[in-house]
Amino acid sequence: VVVVGGQWGDEGKGRIVDLLARKARVVARYSAGNNAGHTIVNDRGEFKLHLVPAGIFYPEKTCVIGNGVAVDPEVLLGEIEGLQAKQIDTSKLVLSDRANVIMPWHRLIDQLDEKQRGDAAIGTTGKGVGPCFTDKVARRGIRVADLLRAEDLVPRIKAVLEYQNRVITGVYGADPIRFDDCFDTYIEYGKRLAPFVGDVQEIVLDAHRRGDHVLLEGAQGSLLDLDHGTYPYVTSSVPSSSSSGAALGVGIGPTDISRVVGVFKSYSTRVGNGPFPTELFDVVADQLRDHGKEFGRGEYGTTTGRPRRIGWLDAVAARYSVRFNGLAALALTRLDVLDSMPTIKICTAYELDGQIIDTLPARESVLNKVRPVYEELPGWQTPTEHVRSFDDLPPQAQAFIKRVEQLLECPVDLISVGPSREQAVIVNPIF
Ligand code: IMP
Ligand code: MG
Repeated sequence: VVVVGGQWGDEGKGRIVDLLARKARVVARYSAGNNAGHTIVNDRGEFKLHLVPAGIFYPEKTCVIGNGVAVDPEVLLGEIEGLQAKQIDTSKLVLSDRANVIMPWHRLIDQLDEKQRGDAAIGTTGKGVGPCFTDKVARRGIRVADLLRAEDLVPRIKAVLEYQNRVITGVYGADPIRFDDCFDTYIEYGKRLAPFVGDVQEIVLDAHRRGDHVLLEGAQGSLLDLDHGTYPYVTSSVPSSSSSGAALGVGIGPTDISRVVGVFKSYSTRVGNGPFPTELFDVVADQLRDHGKEFGRGEYGTTTGRPRRIGWLDAVAARYSVRFNGLAALALTRLDVLDSMPTIKICTAYELDGQIIDTLPARESVLNKVRPVYEELPGWQTPTEHVRSFDDLPPQAQAFIKRVEQLLECPVDLISVGPSREQAVIVNPIF
């Protein structure tokens, strides 16, 4: 089963994976890097994870980081140590030897490149993820396997660094990076990561063959997908489940995937730049952003702390995402955030120069011009955080969910009404 973000990321995939992981044997991250951030609240405390799969809190599960992930060793080691400090068992964590590594020049180029783009900056997280994937595609990447032996690492760094230093000094006019600085640091990372390195594909396929459940945990959202997202304001990997994403990122075939679950927030958020047709700039945006802020659950980036841009649910963009992900079920999160709203809007179509359209245009200039056509539904104005069954939801909330199912052409199997594991309404069990 694959869990993907349906919108622009931060839909609450971490808490959904944390819930579903109960029934899985293996939980795997298959794409992105530490640009992603999950917040998970459970009986062990509150955790912010960027690379380690959300299944880590169940000691008996194997958690893997697939070949499709861009790995910053310093971040991963820091996360492992942070978990160990809170007595979370990390002995069943496996890192793919085929994963590409984020090197110092990737972080530097990410930042230099954003500066050079000026007003047209993507608004990246600045973690070097894009340049790391660029090098992977350019066949210049350094992989986890290369970190384990000096005889492999020395020639790899030498070859790439010479090229990257020419880019850093020539294109961006910045200071070059010294070989010794990165070699010493990265060979040391290799030593510390070695106990975790393994063959991820074998682990995933073994579990699959035995009939155990495997959960493939997406990062970010489908509308940031390199192929299907709002290009060029996208990330440099494939967060969606199209066979080039989930299956590729752990080394299995598309036919090994039985079901794809899309996680959608009950409204929309986006961090970074780029088109966002339903974006709000009024008090409603502030209200939604700061809901639960006093408990650290407002809409602020887990990775960068940036305030997230806020808008109503965009059913046009969401339906597009349902279609290209082949979604069989939806998990609708943060329903409780809408509790106090007198009315709730859903964007059902766009207006473009007097015409109504119901698909997502590819052209950035057009996408910036479309105006949302809204349907307004009555709010419920009652707390839902204690609700555990669909029938106990206020009728207006039930009507909202039914309308989402119709517009997105996909059933809602799970609804979350709060950050804790048990604050969920399971309409249809996903496993
Ligand atoms: P990058 O992935 O750092 O290159 O950033 C590219 C775009 O994806 C920017 O708009 C980021 O804000 C966005 N982005 C990357 N990772 C996440 C995430 O985990 N959640 C939300 N947005 C993200
Ligand atoms: Mg996030």
